[in-house]
Amino acid sequence: MNTLKKENKNRPIGFFDSGVGGLSVYAEFKKQIPNEYTLYFGDLKHLPYGSKTKEELVGYAREILDFFKDKNVKAVVIACNTSSARAYDVVKNDYDFKIYPIIQSCAKVIASSGLSRVGVFATEGTVASKAYTNELHKYNPVLKVKETACPLWVDIVEGKCRAGDDIEKHINEMLKFEPEKIILGCTHYPYLMNELQKYAPKELFLNPAGIFVDFIKDDLQKCGLLTGASGTEEIYVSAEPESFVQHSRIFYDVKSLPQIINLTF
Ligand code: DGL
Repeated sequence: MNTLKKENKNRPIGFFDSGVGGLSVYAEFKKQIPNEYTLYFGDLKHLPYGSKTKEELVGYAREILDFFKDKNVKAVVIACNTSSARAYDVVKNDYDFKIYPIIQSCAKVIASSGLSRVGVFATEGTVASKAYTNELHKYNPVLKVKETACPLWVDIVEGKCRAGDDIEKHINEMLKFEPEKIILGCTHYPYLMNELQKYAPKELFLNPAGIFVDFIKDDLQKCGLLTGASGTEEIYVSAEPESFVQHSRIFYDVKSLPQIINLTF
């Protein structure tokens, strides 16, 4: 991660995800640090990220990071597990602002929390990358990790398909592994909590948003980059602004229709 001078602290912090999922992180951030100037980008043009190639995900990440660079950000939060798993390593040294990827930022706390068996529900791309297993094993090599891809869940949250028995099926399969916690390794999945808790106790599921925001806050503080200023926000999407507002409601009250930014990649 790059270092920034303290005089940069009044600049905004960018957040991005493929859609409304990252708002589960963004809402936690606004709750804990309401005075930061924030930007949110939902890349609905390319949703879902879970089925995209690494090359495509790197292309989207670069374009969004370039957009945030033009906005003069002091930091960017990759509020998307799939992009953190597949694009972060490629782009991380190409910008002169801080970049916080969700998986890599949360792994130490989760791996050091005394658990011995952990399940992960995530997108196909995140599971294929084994990013959760690899990052958790850096801090706890004997932790047993079972990763399961749930390809339909993002579309359910974004209103593009119905749940059916898919959620129950994945949970029952995961419970055979006897996990002490199941990480919701896609920022869309906390939107499904009402459904998930029909098939397993709510406490079994771990939404990493709180751990992630603690990490970001701590790091910004250490670097003298917390503002205590305006609390202004700007929300952008690459497509479907009405759908974004409609499906965001569980986590965040988006007050006006987001501006559409045309991505060329
Ligand atoms: N919410 C994102 C994640 O955390 C991406 C989901 C998708 O678009 O497939 O992985």
